[in-house]
Amino acid sequence: MYDFKIAAADKATLYRDLASALEGLVAGEPDPVANMANGIALIWETLPDLNWAGFYRNVGGELIVGPFQGRPACIRIKFGEGVCGAAAATLQVQRVDDVHAFPGHIACDAASNSELVVPIVRDGQLLAVLDLDSPKPARFTEEDEAGCVRLAEILARAI
Ligand code: SME
Repeated sequence: MYDFKIAAADKATLYRDLASALEGLVAGEPDPVANMANGIALIWETLPDLNWAGFYRNVGGELIVGPFQGRPACIRIKFGEGVCGAAAATLQVQRVDDVHAFPGHIACDAASNSELVVPIVRDGQLLAVLDLDSPKPARFTEEDEAGCVRLAEILARAI
């Protein structure tokens, strides 16, 4: 049984503990789907104020939804489209305080107001993006971005 209970007083500690739990969860397991599924369940259980958390995988230059938590979502997203497509096309983190002000934002869940999308890159190749949505405006801070970049580095070796 996995029983991760991460309750930290501050975000730096929260992300340190989350990264450590993620490392443990994927250690020794080579199957990418298993690691994405368990990884996103851990993230969903640990980070507050999310309404969707999941992966979009780079399948031949198109993003296709992968393991996630939340409501059923858009299946395919072209590079350059929406927040996820912008992250895929530029390989840059997209931290969006107000998704309604983001040109081309794709509304999969009307509850979403802010979003963080982190590219997962190995050997210069985009494997997937990690997409977190929140109903709270400006939910994601610089600390969340740094913490999720660390998670993406771990996932890049595990998926
Ligand atoms: N909002 C994303 C689409 C994916 S959903 O949030 C699950 C976007 O604009 O790329």
